[in-house]
Amino acid sequence: MTRRKFVCGNWKMHKTVAEAVELVRELRQRLNTQIQVGIAPPFTALAPVKAALQGSPIQLFAQNCHHEKQGAFTGEVSAPMLKELGCDGVILGHSERRQLFGETDEGVNKKLKAALEAQLHPIVCVGETLAEREASRTWEVVSRQIRGAFNGLAADAVGRCTIAYEPVWAIGTGKTATTGQAQEVHGQIRGLLREIAGPAVADAVRIQYGGSVKPENAAELLSQPDIDGALVGGASLKADDFARIVAGAK
Ligand code: PGA
Repeated sequence: MTRRKFVCGNWKMHKTVAEAVELVRELRQRLNTQIQVGIAPPFTALAPVKAALQGSPIQLFAQNCHHEKQGAFTGEVSAPMLKELGCDGVILGHSERRQLFGETDEGVNKKLKAALEAQLHPIVCVGETLAEREASRTWEVVSRQIRGAFNGLAADAVGRCTIAYEPVWAIGTGKTATTGQAQEVHGQIRGLLREIAGPAVADAVRIQYGGSVKPENAAELLSQPDIDGALVGGASLKADDFARIVAGAK
């Protein structure tokens, strides 16, 4: 089966509204592609970016959401609120959320259910730390994260998700997993999806690679059979770099 490639830019805590709208203007000029492309600005820029994207196929993603629809959760934003703003999807369980904000597999599972209920397309992030890789625990950690995130989900719900494999040691460090290292884990993830959701869903789900994806390495990473796209941090903040990564994904 040929899966449509999917590249998403994770802007993290970068870009004021004015800067975000300017970046969208540049991206609209440079991106001319048949593949699926998304951008995930900070919450404050979602509405203005949505307006700036009008008529463009570029999709809008948030970087997180709370699992409840509403309530006394100071500082949080719910999935229906993101849907109302016009978001297409949401990134969940990013390693920065897990490491810096204490997110657990159980919490990611609740958020995932909330996102799906709000008809948002979730990108579920998984990945091992350097210590875990060096202790040969990569698959133990990644498989636990995936089983935890998808716990209790029906196969068709799993089929509505994208997974991003992001080795923590490769995020923002300039160190990229080799194509062999990345493909090995992506292949294992595909096998696990087969087990938990059946062969048709496993074939259809896109598995993005993330961690220091650059214009120079994107094409080779994305040529691997189980690497169906990229989740791009730093290099998504410059229109030219992001456009070259998208071009390399074709
Ligand atoms: P990076 O970030 O491309 O800057 O390494 C990737 C990510 O955190 O999604």
